[in-house]
Amino acid sequence: MKVLILGAKGMLGQELVNTYADHDVVAWDREDCDVLDADTSDAKIRELGPELLINAIGYNAVDLAEGEGEEMANKINGEVPGRLARLASDLDIPFVHYGTEYVTDGENAEGYTEDAEMNPLSVYGRSKLAGEKAVMEVGGKGYVIRLSRLFGKPATSEAGKKSFIDIMLGLAKTKDHLDLVDEEESSPTYAPDLAKRTREIVEGHPPGLYHAANSGSCTWHGFAQEIFRLKGVTIDITPVSGKMFPRPAKRPMHCVLLNTKLPPMRPWQEALEDYLKTI
Ligand SMILES: NC(=O)c1ccc[n+]([C@@H]2O[C@H](COP(=O)([O-])OP(=O)(O)OC[C@H]3O[C@@H](n4cnc5c(N)ncnc54)[C@H](OP(=O)(O)O)[C@@H]3O)[C@@H](O)[C@H]2O)c1
Repeated sequence: MKVLILGAKGMLGQELVNTYADHDVVAWDREDCDVLDADTSDAKIRELGPELLINAIGYNAVDLAEGEGEEMANKINGEVPGRLARLASDLDIPFVHYGTEYVTDGENAEGYTEDAEMNPLSVYGRSKLAGEKAVMEVGGKGYVIRLSRLFGKPATSEAGKKSFIDIMLGLAKTKDHLDLVDEEESSPTYAPDLAKRTREIVEGHPPGLYHAANSGSCTWHGFAQEIFRLKGVTIDITPVSGKMFPRPAKRPMHCVLLNTKLPPMRPWQEALEDYLKTI
């Protein structure tokens, strides 16, 4: 099967490439196919004739999206997914797109099921919600898979962000104390686990909206605590309120994505342990 992965140099994209390695994978990133150039990119995709199209592109600069990045967030997250879904529908092939826990309002400490009403608090969250709705409206063979707090091998693309894990381990080399936000309860998602879950969903489940994150949840403080514990790093960390670090975009307090459709994924601590062994 010819599988086209867009955003193939991203944190998730590169793991999707590995997961589909036994297929005929075509891995494109911005330099191969800039999806902002609608006519050229659509024509290129049609010419390639994929049998599965996966969109791992995203505009993830949550704070920048509150200002100068708003237009780009709306285009990449809000408009492009619907256009790609229509193209996939024309080609009569499955289409996969990814959503985020930032579509929640963070009020529900019990977590959010796939069919829960969403009420994003930020420009980023609203742009992602618009994109997933557009994909669902096209219908056809469209899948939207929501994930939260992605971690794994950093993206190899030029604009690839440093991961939270690298930032924490880097800070621990120069500091003996860190204040860490004890909010945004959510489920870390290991990129290779998500790539495998994506394949499982597409190969065995009907089109629709899915939640896919590792089991369990933590705040940023809890995540860092486990990173340091597993790495044997001794550092003094203090849980603090998000108010100590004012940022342009409002974040949800609790944003656990409850998966009611498939068996649970393995606990995030187990996945983190596996990842930390690789770095
Ligand atoms: N990271 C998270 O914590 C998180 C949380 C929830 C949901 N998600 C969602 O999960 C998906 C994957 O995220 P990720 O963290 O793997 O993203 P990522 O590492 O930022 O990778 C995205 C890739 O898409 C490429 N790209 C950007 N604009 C493009 C364009 N116009 N044309 C073609 N390629 C373009 C990027 O290239 P450049 O580097 O050159 O821009 C990059 O290689 C996204 O839908 C994201 O919104 C992520």
